[in-house]
Amino acid sequence: MKVDIYERIWMWGVTVMLAVFFATTAIAALGHQLQPPSHVETIDPKAAMSDPRFRTQGVSVDPEGKVHATIVALMFAWLPPEFAVPAETPVTFHLTSIDVIHGFQIVRSNGQSMVIPGYISQFTTQFNLPGEYLIACNEYCGIGHHGMMSKMRVVPKAQWKEPGTPVAAAPESEEIHHDR
Ligand code: CUA
Repeated sequence: MKVDIYERIWMWGVTVMLAVFFATTAIAALGHQLQPPSHVETIDPKAAMSDPRFRTQGVSVDPEGKVHATIVALMFAWLPPEFAVPAETPVTFHLTSIDVIHGFQIVRSNGQSMVIPGYISQFTTQFNLPGEYLIACNEYCGIGHHGMMSKMRVVPKAQWKEPGTPVAAAPESEEIHHDR
């Protein structure tokens, strides 16, 4: 079969482009651990706050020793407003929204997921650099969207302690702050 020289150039061009696109996706997924978050589990958004899976927000450790962060999104806050996770440890995030779609983004990390009412977003990542991380909302959700943020502290592994009462911890520390 005779293929015209220009056609052959385009065919090779397309093949190379496809290979490059596929490689960039593969590098992002495997090299930078950018995996799509799952939205497999469903939940009734109106009853999410009383659902056993989200009744207690914050950080917990399961019987296997794995660290979980449970977070509820609403207009215009992330609950809890502040939490701490250990460094160099995989943390599995469980997120849901009780109203509209929000965008969970841990700034300066690969922790990011859409948060859709009716679904539980889940992803696992780890933070190797201790410090304070801003959690922002990157999905326009209404008039207070820009102020929807919370704080995540990444604590060196040896100093981190499993929180006893993750819900009470955050507002309490804020009250102390105001008293001073
Ligand atoms: Cu929540 Cu934007």
